[in-house]
Amino acid sequence: MFIINSLRNILENLKNNDYYWLKLKKREAVMTTAVMSHHKIDMQQESLRREGAGGSRILASAATFPALKRIALATIHLKKGGIREPHWHPNADEFTYCVDGKALVTLFSPQNICETMTLDKGEAVYIPKGITHHIENINDGESNFILCFSHETPEEQNFSSALCTMSAHVLASTFGVPETTFEPLLEKRHDALISWKREVTKPAHASIPSLHKINLDGTNPQIAAPGGTGHVANRHTFPAAQNLSLVSLRMVPGSVREPHWHPDGTELNYVVAGEARLTVFSPDGEVDTFTLTRGQASTIPSGYFHHIENIGRDELHMTVFFSSSLPGDIGISGALSAYANDVLGASFDLDPKFFAALPKISEDVLVVRGGG
Ligand SMILES: [Fe+2]
Ligand SMILES: [Fe+2]
Repeated sequence: MFIINSLRNILENLKNNDYYWLKLKKREAVMTTAVMSHHKIDMQQESLRREGAGGSRILASAATFPALKRIALATIHLKKGGIREPHWHPNADEFTYCVDGKALVTLFSPQNICETMTLDKGEAVYIPKGITHHIENINDGESNFILCFSHETPEEQNFSSALCTMSAHVLASTFGVPETTFEPLLEKRHDALISWKREVTKPAHASIPSLHKINLDGTNPQIAAPGGTGHVANRHTFPAAQNLSLVSLRMVPGSVREPHWHPDGTELNYVVAGEARLTVFSPDGEVDTFTLTRGQASTIPSGYFHHIENIGRDELHMTVFFSSSLPGDIGISGALSAYANDVLGASFDLDPKFFAALPKISEDVLVVRGGG
């Protein structure tokens, strides 16, 4: 009797509290969901990881994921005291978003312009091609970052490896010191990438604003729809972003990012939290439906029709990067509304009354709650 009552309670609980979630799962089961998808990027692959004394980096480029075009993705995990060493990217801009923790970032640009800034959770920094930069964890715990590059195979030159390629004579002449001064450095000859220091220092001067930094999640969202919000960093809202853009997208459970496409820009999204389902329709007729969970990413070529659903119980948070500073967005709600009912009727071989029954929408709905 106890067991029967327990089962009854469990069923009642599911019926009352989890009905909508179960409905979503059922719908998921009847859809053809790809286990492997060439649009999907699993950032947990060990082969993509490079460890250093102060943390690790995972880099997904076209070398591993050929679907990446004009864009690449990385995550950096820094332990307390961890440092992504000073470096620059010869062929790519970088857009870095702080997922959690607190960092110090120093940019060094031509004309000896040096900017040091803090980077907190929800903030992002844009680093143009060739500009020297570093990321230093000044949090008491770990810090995590998502990085996007404006090239599918981003190159890098790190201080630790670059300096050691020059002779003692050249280095000593540059700094006006004896050649023996550089012997300890040249004997090292290594590529640190992620280094570590014992003392964590938090300079007081570093909190000044910078044109390279945006408090992305700390301001009012540019997209505030019934199903979610989007904080947008593009060339209009953040002029430093010249070749990439970023949307910090949050969707409530059950919501749908309406079917749409981007006329100018490859999309590269990463799940910070939650569970998503996407469908991508390719011009060759392929329909690719797949799910993403925390730590997974996908790329969608420019102009390809796609959608995003939150199929989890909790909020879905994604960072959505684009290979363009103004990628554009055409949603199906507005696109269908732009054409006369008889044109649509002829195209779908349906009575125009079908389309007359649909609301005409002058502005894209973007993110809807779902469920009709
Ligand atoms: Fe970098
Ligand atoms: Fe999109």
